[in-house]
Amino acid sequence: EKGGYRHFMLKEIYEQPRAIADTVASRVKDGHSDVYLEGLQLDDEQLRQFDRLYVVACGTSWHAGLTGKFLIEKLARVPVEVDIASEFRYRDPLVTDRTLIILISQSGETADTLAALREARGKGGKALAICNVVESSIARESDGVIYTHAGPEIGVASTKAFTTQLVALYLLALRLGRARGTLDAQRCIELTEALLTLPRKIEEVLELDEQIEAIAKTFMSASDFLYLGRGNQYPIALEGALKLKEISYIHAEGYPAGEMKHGPIALIDEQLPVVFLCPRNETLEKVVSNLEEVRARDGRVIAVVTEGQENLLGEVDALITVPDIIDELAPVLMSIPMQLLAYHVAVFKGTDVDQPRNLAKSVTVE
Ligand code: F6R
Repeated sequence: EKGGYRHFMLKEIYEQPRAIADTVASRVKDGHSDVYLEGLQLDDEQLRQFDRLYVVACGTSWHAGLTGKFLIEKLARVPVEVDIASEFRYRDPLVTDRTLIILISQSGETADTLAALREARGKGGKALAICNVVESSIARESDGVIYTHAGPEIGVASTKAFTTQLVALYLLALRLGRARGTLDAQRCIELTEALLTLPRKIEEVLELDEQIEAIAKTFMSASDFLYLGRGNQYPIALEGALKLKEISYIHAEGYPAGEMKHGPIALIDEQLPVVFLCPRNETLEKVVSNLEEVRARDGRVIAVVTEGQENLLGEVDALITVPDIIDELAPVLMSIPMQLLAYHVAVFKGTDVDQPRNLAKSVTVE
């Protein structure tokens, strides 16, 4: 049932082009000038009335939420707060009948996320679930649901569930933007067309597998890793660090690249690998200057960059080049090398990749 792959995690990494295509299929409509979310249960009038959105989740799903904030604030111009479920539920959150609470959960059974949903609905908020497991508790108890069509995810470390969550949030941001009048039809067409190219571009990144495996071999003995990104890549830095921690047991931290000089820079020496997420975007120059600061202190740099931009970086220890894509979708593409790097490091270390110690697929205790 691993379909010839050595681990479920690897199989699920490779399933992403298909999982994303399935999550998008049938949802792009009207010559691509809008999207249709069948379980949303919120009409345009309701979508216009919200004055604040909360995204609430745990772990990897929370990282997806952090990326969703960028998408929704940019395309729908409504304030979004992202919170960890176990924090949100205990602080008497400011929820009114004009608040939309988006719960993200692969399993749909995470205890803290379910409790946050109940807390928010109890205060009169509307709840929208983004779940992978059909008819799960969080999906059932919410007012509306967007299912990710990732298919069953067996590996404990989330991969295809995460990238399909990013796609679901992108679709939601488009729908909100259309309903609220902040996104015009032409721009929506451009954004949906870019989305339709995503599976093919992920396939191109998967072709880098062997190269990433070689990088993993070079760096597998490090005791710590630092992951840095700015803007919508900061959550991907967090996610890259989490993947590595979970399955290879190497300590790793994700940071916004601009925060490095406020503390983590003290960690940098010739032992420390620093993974830089540097896609082509408005902050690339700033990320490159952070990269130079690391190099000046003899840190070991692993950079992920958009093709054609490699020479902007100068010298690095390892370079991973991904295809160009619009900035709104770059987080999805950049996630793939993060998954493969963590996977190969773990395999070299000989850990139980699909069943890492101390972890459960679905966390039903608080
Ligand atoms: C990380 C991972 C966990 C889950 C978290 C939430 O790879 O799998 O961090 O993301 O336990 O689980 P769900 O999404 O099922 O609510």
